Amino acid sequence: MRDIARHLPNVAGKRLPLVEKVLEWTPSYHASHITGIRSEYDGTEIEGDFYTVPLFPHQILSLDRDFVLGKIIDACKLAQDRGAKIVGLGAYTSVVGSAGMAVANAMECAVTSGNSYTVATAIEGATTVAKLLDISIPDATVAVVGATGSIGNVCAKIIAGFGVKKLNLIARSQLRLENCAKELHELFPKLELEVSTNIPQGIQTADIIISCTASGGDILQPSYFKPGCVICDVAVPHDVCREVAHLRPDVLVIEGGVVEAPGHAEFNFDFGFPEGICLACMAETMILTLEKRFENFSIGRGLHIEKVQEISELAKKHGFHLSGFRAFDEPVTQDRIEQVRTLARESRINRKVIQL
Ligand SMILES: NC(=O)c1ccc[n+]([C@@H]2O[C@H](COP(=O)([O-])OP(=O)(O)OC[C@H]3O[C@@H](n4cnc5c(N)ncnc54)[C@H](OP(=O)(O)O)[C@@H]3O)[C@@H](O)[C@H]2O)c1
Repeated sequence: MRDIARHLPNVAGKRLPLVEKVLEWTPSYHASHITGIRSEYDGTEIEGDFYTVPLFPHQILSLDRDFVLGKIIDACKLAQDRGAKIVGLGAYTSVVGSAGMAVANAMECAVTSGNSYTVATAIEGATTVAKLLDISIPDATVAVVGATGSIGNVCAKIIAGFGVKKLNLIARSQLRLENCAKELHELFPKLELEVSTNIPQGIQTADIIISCTASGGDILQPSYFKPGCVICDVAVPHDVCREVAHLRPDVLVIEGGVVEAPGHAEFNFDFGFPEGICLACMAETMILTLEKRFENFSIGRGLHIEKVQEISELAKKHGFHLSGFRAFDEPVTQDRIEQVRTLARESRINRKVIQL
């Protein structure tokens, strides 16, 4: 609804069913022109455009699949007609249609979901903040919420490769979770694995949580977390509900996949970040354009770890990097990190006293 107020003020404040209908009737449209992205490697400057598929995430999940895909393909064709050689699918536009596969099949230009770079930045963000909070990776229990998804599955594989103590895999489908756990067990036979369809149970012991569901948001409640844990919320809309900001000063939430683009990027579109900051899924398209790699880079559910590593190296080469940490529309300050560290330490001491 905040996006509606920003971009469609005529319907802001109207009742939800009416807004939903207006969105269904509104065709996909060109939203803004992007300028000023300049490679730090060779000075190449690129331009691009944003297109809007005017639907709420819950509509993308619940409306007729062909209708939704049609709107997404319409937006991609607008881009193609304006000369785009590659189109990136942001947020939920790659959740329908087999992680971008159906859209890519309908297009002549290249299509990417941006999910490989999203994974790279989520892992980098989560592990960096964990170290700042003195969480030892080899002793850590890590939970991936949405572990059977395109992003979650490869996040789980990468984090397992870091040699964590225990990995909890959480999603809705028990069968998909068991398949995911079987695959991980074959890759990492010594790793302790747990699967759960019960979110609070799955995350209550976790030191690090990477949350990347397509649930529509607000599924992680304040009471679920262990004191001192890190939650990297990759989902858009966010999985962590906003009350956590006030009710749990002893846990640290960061948004996953928030990136600063090199040069003087002007997106000319307010998606809630400061100037020059964008989502990793958007950045992946920019990086591939700077490399003139007009190919279906991250498409389909099975992402490859090699591609995550490759896009991460290309990002560094051109000067894309994590934007600093943000949560609940604000930067995460050093003071905030200190506060979590102190409260977590106090909580650990209190628990020891109670056990004695
Ligand atoms: N920050 C960024 O730059 C960026 C970039 C791209 C995408 N994203 C976001 O990342 C998220 C995941 O994208 P994806 O492409 O990986 O989606 P996906 O492949 O459709 O996977 C979604 C995952 O969420 C799980 N899930 C859905 N509803 C759930 C619920 N109520 N409770 C628990 N688990 C639930 C699914 O489990 P089941 O298999 O059991 O259904 C699945 O594991 C989306 O929110 C998307 O917007 C962010």
